[in-house]
Amino acid sequence: MSTTTQNPTGTQREQFSGQTGFILSAIGSAVGLGNIWRFPGVAYENGGGAFLIPYLVALMTAGIPILFLDYAIGHRFRGSAPTALRRLGGRWGRWTESLGWFQVGMSFVIGLYYTAIIGWALSYFVFSFDLRWGDDPAGFLVGEYLKVSNDVSVTGDIVASVAIPLAIVWIAAIVVLALGVSRGLERVNVVVMPLLALTFGAVVVRALFLDGAADGLNAFFTPDWGALSDPNVWIAAYGQIFFSLSIAFGIMITYASYRRRRANLTGPGLVVAFANSSFELLAGIGVFATLGFFAFQQGIPVAELEGISGISLSFITFPAILSQMPGGAVVGALFFGTLTLAGFTSLLSILQVTSAAVQEKFGLTPRSGAVAIGLVSAALSFALFSTTSGLYALDAADNWTNNIGVVGSAVIMSVLTVWVLRRGPELLYHLNTVSTVRLGGVWLALIGVVVPAVLGYMLVRAIVTVVTEGYEGYPAGFLVVMGWGALIAIGVITAVATALPWRHHKHDVEPWPPYAAVTTIKEN
Ligand code: ALA
Repeated sequence: MSTTTQNPTGTQREQFSGQTGFILSAIGSAVGLGNIWRFPGVAYENGGGAFLIPYLVALMTAGIPILFLDYAIGHRFRGSAPTALRRLGGRWGRWTESLGWFQVGMSFVIGLYYTAIIGWALSYFVFSFDLRWGDDPAGFLVGEYLKVSNDVSVTGDIVASVAIPLAIVWIAAIVVLALGVSRGLERVNVVVMPLLALTFGAVVVRALFLDGAADGLNAFFTPDWGALSDPNVWIAAYGQIFFSLSIAFGIMITYASYRRRRANLTGPGLVVAFANSSFELLAGIGVFATLGFFAFQQGIPVAELEGISGISLSFITFPAILSQMPGGAVVGALFFGTLTLAGFTSLLSILQVTSAAVQEKFGLTPRSGAVAIGLVSAALSFALFSTTSGLYALDAADNWTNNIGVVGSAVIMSVLTVWVLRRGPELLYHLNTVSTVRLGGVWLALIGVVVPAVLGYMLVRAIVTVVTEGYEGYPAGFLVVMGWGALIAIGVITAVATALPWRHHKHDVEPWPPYAAVTTIKEN
């Protein structure tokens, strides 16, 4: 049987050159802004050391199982999310394709603001050399750099200091994606990921030798066991895992589709998952050792520090600490350089989801797909996130997309695969046929029962919370535009893209033997 894989233009389908390139690219996708600026704060606010328990449970019961589901769908059906899910759906393919576009829509929206944060990190990399924020990092970020408007409303005023680094990030991303999977994306990851491990390792080691580092680590790891009875802590753990592992929004389906026909899936998947969590833990250790130093300087306990989560952690608290730290400029450059590179390799994977999908549906070459998607996304990203209201817009879009969109997608995908289409056993068979680490019925039970139950609950709770309580005190009108609006935009992308006709042959890949045929042969 031929293993040639044809893309819409008739040339061979793009592929990762080998397993190492794939593993480094998948780790590059997983390790991103979510690991460095999100994890330490989320863990600290949700029980400290005790958070590691829900975190590990979430990793084992939903993170790794959905990662394998993404791999199985992408590899068996060899396509971007819409193509692969259409093939998974069989005669219901037209309907299941729409879930693929929903995932593409989410990656599209996430890409718009993810780029903005990478642009900020790039600016702060430059600012580190002369510690430009002076002795008022909060005022510098909000007033001088982002020029945040006083009202929470949608403004169209572009801020040049934000737009310029944003343009650099977009140009770099478009160039890499236009070079293709193995010549662009894979090569960047192969070079950047080892470098990232070194630079971040250096930052963490430096942090561990600061005065007060031990107090910071105690604050981070001291377990608050009471937190385990709070459902919100568990929700935070599952939410963190999904964003961090880059699952359920099309990325891993797309990446797995670029693997060779004979490619080990589960073993590398475990490597990726544990590498990602190790990096996350390392980030927590580095950040909290540094916070320990900051508290020590001020003569207060770590618990009394403010601004230890999200954007303020990286862009306000951390700069404040750098100003007081011996060698702060070097550590700052290493930290923000790492943040920029980690974000960039994840961004490539986020954009590839949309690029691959439009290439396949509309018969574009990889280069034209990457350039078309890059230019449209860049224009929107400037209009929405390099403005004086960019910070608020980003916050709202992030909350709606992740807590409602990504979680909803995971629930629908697992229920669809296991209960509606009943193709769970086939995907299990596929994973076991190509992989070294074999899975059993437990995997099916996790994606068929645990994931829909836990994530379904999370989804309902997240929706009820934003409907009844709003978000961060932002005006309702603003949330309709930037929060619900993000989901509505994703819905429109889904409906329009699904309805448009395919411009190329639908099966550009030699299909696997039908699962029924395989089992029949075995039984005979
Ligand atoms: N997985 C990527 C991150 O953690 C998206 O930032």
